[in-house]
Amino acid sequence: MYKSIVDLIGNTPLVLLRSLSSNYNIYAKCEFFNPGFSIKDRVAKYAIEEYVKKGIINSDTTVVAPTSGNTGIGLCLLSKKIGFKLVLTAYKDVPIKQVEKLILLGADVRLFSSEDDANSEGGYVFEAKKMCNNDNYFLFDQFSDELNFKTHYNKTSEEILDSLPTQLDYFFVAVGSGGTFSGISQRLKEEFPAMQTIVVEPNGGIIRSHFNGEELDYIDHNIHSISGSFVPGNCHIELADKVVSYPDYIYSEGVEQVARSEGYTIGSSSGFVVAGMLKYCKEENVPEGANILVIFSDNGISE
Ligand SMILES: Cc1ncc(COP(=O)(O)O)c(C=O)c1O
Repeated sequence: MYKSIVDLIGNTPLVLLRSLSSNYNIYAKCEFFNPGFSIKDRVAKYAIEEYVKKGIINSDTTVVAPTSGNTGIGLCLLSKKIGFKLVLTAYKDVPIKQVEKLILLGADVRLFSSEDDANSEGGYVFEAKKMCNNDNYFLFDQFSDELNFKTHYNKTSEEILDSLPTQLDYFFVAVGSGGTFSGISQRLKEEFPAMQTIVVEPNGGIIRSHFNGEELDYIDHNIHSISGSFVPGNCHIELADKVVSYPDYIYSEGVEQVARSEGYTIGSSSGFVVAGMLKYCKEENVPEGANILVIFSDNGISE
């Protein structure tokens, strides 16, 4: 018996993708087993519970977060357990079904129409920060909050290490807030110093230019929740061994290959990483038998 559904967050399975490739041992951390169906439940639980322990958040707090995606869903779960009010800010083009879902889960969703940078006046990140000038308001910014990194360094990585039957040669990952990439890379590189982290991003993303020390020139793409228009504070680029980019539309190949071979669906960002990983392995002649980790962040049901 569980006293709260929040207690079911984490301890997700690590699954060998037996049929996807006979050349490699590909292990997928299946984060859609979380109750809110994504990896972001972990970040919400770990961070909010830390802030409650420190006395920063309680039932009188209004937590404000610039997100309309999976982090919002995770925060809704925590808001019910702790009793705080939740305001989510987002850019106005969020699909209406997603907004309706967050409202159903109890969030106060505010949409902002600024075409400009999310961080300037009228932008959804700027406006979230502005609201938090009020007493009892608390900003949870997954892009810069170190507890996001720590969630993955301390929790996700430990679970992976507990379940892995072998060492790892490669970790393929995308960067949204950067927490998954940085937290897992840092911890796993401590165990497996030769492991290479390959960041996969859609053409137009700026993580590759950032990695190469080039000028950042963002071009919009169609993969939600990864490779946004700014480099997040939680993206510790020195942990990447390579950043590779591919056209955004290859995500559907990855989703389809996993569905056909393994029999279940994954979200578009996970599909994108799978497709990118398979292309990279072919192009770079990754040796047969390599041990590879990927993260299935969600199963796409909220897309
Ligand atoms: C496969 C994959 N990796 C990484 C991420 C990004 O997570 P984070 O916000 O921790 O960078 C996502 C986000 O959806 C993802 O699907």
